[in-house]
Amino acid sequence: MVKAQKIFTRTLLDWNRLQNTRAMPWKGEKDPYRVWLSEVILQQTRVEQGWSYYEKFIAKYPSIEKLAAAKDEQVFKLWEGLGYYSRCRNLLHTARMITDKYHGKFPADRDDMMRLKGIGSYTASAIASFCFDLPYAVVDGNVLRVIARFFGIQTPIDTSEGKKFFSSLAQACLDKVQPGPYNQAIMDFGATICKPLPLCDACMLRKNCRAIKLKKVSDLPAKSSRLQKKTRWFSYFVFIADQRMFVHERNAKDIWQHLYEFHLVETAADPEWTSRKVKAWLKKNLAIDSIVSIRIIRALTQALTHQMINGYFIETELHSVPASLQGNGSWMTKKLIGRKPFPRFIHQYLSEKKSGQ
Ligand code: ADE
Repeated sequence: MVKAQKIFTRTLLDWNRLQNTRAMPWKGEKDPYRVWLSEVILQQTRVEQGWSYYEKFIAKYPSIEKLAAAKDEQVFKLWEGLGYYSRCRNLLHTARMITDKYHGKFPADRDDMMRLKGIGSYTASAIASFCFDLPYAVVDGNVLRVIARFFGIQTPIDTSEGKKFFSSLAQACLDKVQPGPYNQAIMDFGATICKPLPLCDACMLRKNCRAIKLKKVSDLPAKSSRLQKKTRWFSYFVFIADQRMFVHERNAKDIWQHLYEFHLVETAADPEWTSRKVKAWLKKNLAIDSIVSIRIIRALTQALTHQMINGYFIETELHSVPASLQGNGSWMTKKLIGRKPFPRFIHQYLSEKKSGQ
């Protein structure tokens, strides 16, 4: 194993042992039924949403035989709200297959697992490593992002060359003695530190991270430009004070030149705003700490020819006009705003606001 890979693997395992505080009900679980169930739920669902479903399933169907014996309708009812129902159909089908063909015992071989409906390469590697200590590295979007950044790999992840390259590098980094803890470590690290919008300051790998050295963190992982429109994240702070809103004209050499907009903050990835984050941001960047109210609204995505615009409108009502927002724009009444041209992205928001009032 080359030196960088050794550092990567050892640091991830140390972090996992000493600092990873992420708690989830299936963590450290060795029962393949439970691991399989958690992985199927997490295939298209966020951990926070999947958690309670996992617990409901385990309470109602504590074993694979219990699940196999259930009425379809009851299982579908329990699945309600999770979406992507083929996952649920496959779950039932496979539970019955294992009960009949394997006498209720989950196969301990990764190739056998992959023959079961709903179990792909990621899920099979997760079950094989967590439950049977088999040396298979999981590879999903989180893992690709972590590896592309740490090793500074600019090969697009969505080409056949990229897929092969990343799979073999992921496998080379796997700790063959502790494949389960290693896989859990890289999953949790991708979910909590090396996120799309990463926490590089808190990262224990930053000293050796090639993406940081190359200033490419927000460009990695790369996707083939043929398929990929550039995604941009626009957060518009809609400051409201004295019945006026703060707007300015866009003059930069960029889209929407000469149109009007609110106070814009562009980020490389989804900033996932919460009220707390907004408050901290306002205080730090604009010295605003006297706020009447905050409302965070997810914008409708707008597809342009070469880019996709995602974002938020953060309505921030203030007691008075803050010093940091004098100049660089004007405080306009609703009436005046109605006469100014705005990009469609903002116009949509303004029309909805109007019709909602
Ligand atoms: N996403 C998919 N599987 C996971 C797991 N076992 N832990 C955390 N996140 C996951």
